[in-house]
Amino acid sequence: MGEFDGRAVLVTGGALGIGQGIVRAFAREGASVAIADVDRAAAERLAAELAAGGVRAIATIGDVSSSGDAQRMVAETVTAFGRLDVLVNNAGIQPVDWYFRVEDTPEEVWDRILGVNLKGQFLMSKYALPHIRAQGPGGSVINMASVQGVQSMPGVPSYAASKGGVLSLTRNMALDYARDGIRVNAICPGTMDSEMVRTAARAEGGDLDATLARYGAFHPLGRLGLPEDIAQATLFLASDRSSFMTGGYLAVDGGFLAQGAWASSAGSTQIHEGA
Ligand SMILES: NC(=O)c1ccc[n+]([C@@H]2O[C@H](COP(=O)([O-])OP(=O)(O)OC[C@H]3O[C@@H](n4cnc5c(N)ncnc54)[C@H](O)[C@@H]3O)[C@@H](O)[C@H]2O)c1
Repeated sequence: MGEFDGRAVLVTGGALGIGQGIVRAFAREGASVAIADVDRAAAERLAAELAAGGVRAIATIGDVSSSGDAQRMVAETVTAFGRLDVLVNNAGIQPVDWYFRVEDTPEEVWDRILGVNLKGQFLMSKYALPHIRAQGPGGSVINMASVQGVQSMPGVPSYAASKGGVLSLTRNMALDYARDGIRVNAICPGTMDSEMVRTAARAEGGDLDATLARYGAFHPLGRLGLPEDIAQATLFLASDRSSFMTGGYLAVDGGFLAQGAWASSAGSTQIHEGA
């Protein structure tokens, strides 16, 4: 018996990276899973693998920033499973060659990042919420934000704005759907071992494992996060175990936000142990 037996879950960006970890976790817990992604090959490969293992899984292909695609991906999910209980708005982008200050940011870059990372969550929620509400109280929406929604690094104004927007959108949706018994929460991952981060690490050149280890060392827990770390938080937020939580966010970041602005001085301060 799984915790999500009989429930239907739609995960955007579910083919790779963090989203794939979330899809696998819900599948293990008995849910029917819709993998909504632009990457047809990866989405269909994962759906076929899960289906071969007895999971009710579909790949639904589209771009979350397109209203028509968003509407169709929700419709295909409901047609396949007859219901929708949980929406995970995970799809997000920050291409490696799109690091600019505001004055150098092409308008198309701003529009694309805000379009996928923020408008995509709005559109998927807009079309999914009527179906989630139709199941009665107990539905859940989980929006992928980032530690960058709360704190900032240089050179990613569009991404930072999109993730701050996700936290704000999450609060607002939580208020608007609380009386329907639908909870809306966000997750702020630290640096995770995903395709996105591996692509950024490769772009630095040099030894990939060493670069990933350096990214991991920025976190007090001393390692990169894994898709499974985010998947566990997502299962929790989607389940009745978090039934009094709405409108907030979980930092799943190895302590990254806790160290705040002192991160850069962590190596220069001598801490004395003992009396
Ligand atoms: N990796 C990290 O360190 C990190 C940290 C904080 C937040 N996040 C957030 O977590 C989420 C997942 O990131 P990831 O690292 O797994 O990324 P990833 O690039 O590894 O995977 C993203 C997935 O989303 C899909 N996708 C991209 N654009 C899409 C679109 N327009 N419509 C539908 N699907 C689309 C991709 O095909 C891919 O399957 C993103 O919202 C990202 O901003 C990631």
